[in-house]
Amino acid sequence: MNKSYLISEINRLKTEKNAIILAHYYQSEDIQEIADFVGDSLELSKKAQTTDADIIVFAGVYFMAETAKILNPNKKVLLPDINAGCSLADGCHHDDFKLFKEKYPEHVVVTYINCSAEIKALSDIVCTSSNAEKIINSIPSSKNILFAPDRNLGNYLSKQTKRDLILWEGSCVVHEAFSLDKLIEIYKNNPTAKIAAHPESESHILKTAHYIGSTSGILNFIKTDTATTFIVATEAGILHQLAKTVPEKTLIPAPSVQDNTCACSECAYMKINTLEKLFQCLKNEGPEISINEKLRIQALEPITKMLELS
Ligand code: 13P
Ligand code: SF4
Repeated sequence: MNKSYLISEINRLKTEKNAIILAHYYQSEDIQEIADFVGDSLELSKKAQTTDADIIVFAGVYFMAETAKILNPNKKVLLPDINAGCSLADGCHHDDFKLFKEKYPEHVVVTYINCSAEIKALSDIVCTSSNAEKIINSIPSSKNILFAPDRNLGNYLSKQTKRDLILWEGSCVVHEAFSLDKLIEIYKNNPTAKIAAHPESESHILKTAHYIGSTSGILNFIKTDTATTFIVATEAGILHQLAKTVPEKTLIPAPSVQDNTCACSECAYMKINTLEKLFQCLKNEGPEISINEKLRIQALEPITKMLELS
């Protein structure tokens, strides 16, 4: 289908149906451009909590749309492609996590928002990469903490907060793929560059970073720092907003281990959504996210605690 036709139809349907399009920074440029709001996980959750639209089209991955539904039981929440998963969420199953949690009955369970509603329902509090440190620090030091599902973010938090966290062994396939050797090579050729990394990256990448933070954190850092060249260690979708916001700065995507053709990392789960699927989903009002009410209420509690602290 022709792109300009898709854009005009999406805009028409959006108005007709009082729908809002929320998009993550990792979505394709087309989707970021047509979205009403583009943000990181925390900003998107907050937006989903306050919108007065009847329909939320969540251009992101499943756990993000599911979180929007948990916060908005009476709204229709749509996801352009229902198969938009996440290696972190998909690698932490309810029964395994329940058994893991049972080994540490006294621990406070903190879960990264990149997990299913079933895992959130087993949690005391949820966090995102932009508030994780604050959430950990809000827990009295007398309490031990179990953190899931991202071991890289968990290790980073452990160092930052000087707390010994029990970690679930999950990881993000995109952020784990950055090559330290290639990063060092690029840095040698650009010695004045600053490295900005997402905390889902491995510790050897984080050790090289001048700034570590969420996608919005990285954007703000690059926007406000005086350096003119930046090496960006997160998913490549963020480069679109950066190119718009700071066109005068040089942005070098951190290279992946297996990446010989393109210098950047893309999340295949995020990129499964397309403009055409977005149009179809708005037109057909599906795929729609649905969640059992008992589970929703259980998962809502740790999300609400997070939002109150953020
Ligand atoms: P942010 O919270 O930084 O948007 O990260 C979400 C995510 O999935 C990173 O891979
Ligand atoms: Fe999940 Fe990683 Fe993709 Fe983010 S980039 S959605 S953590 S697989």
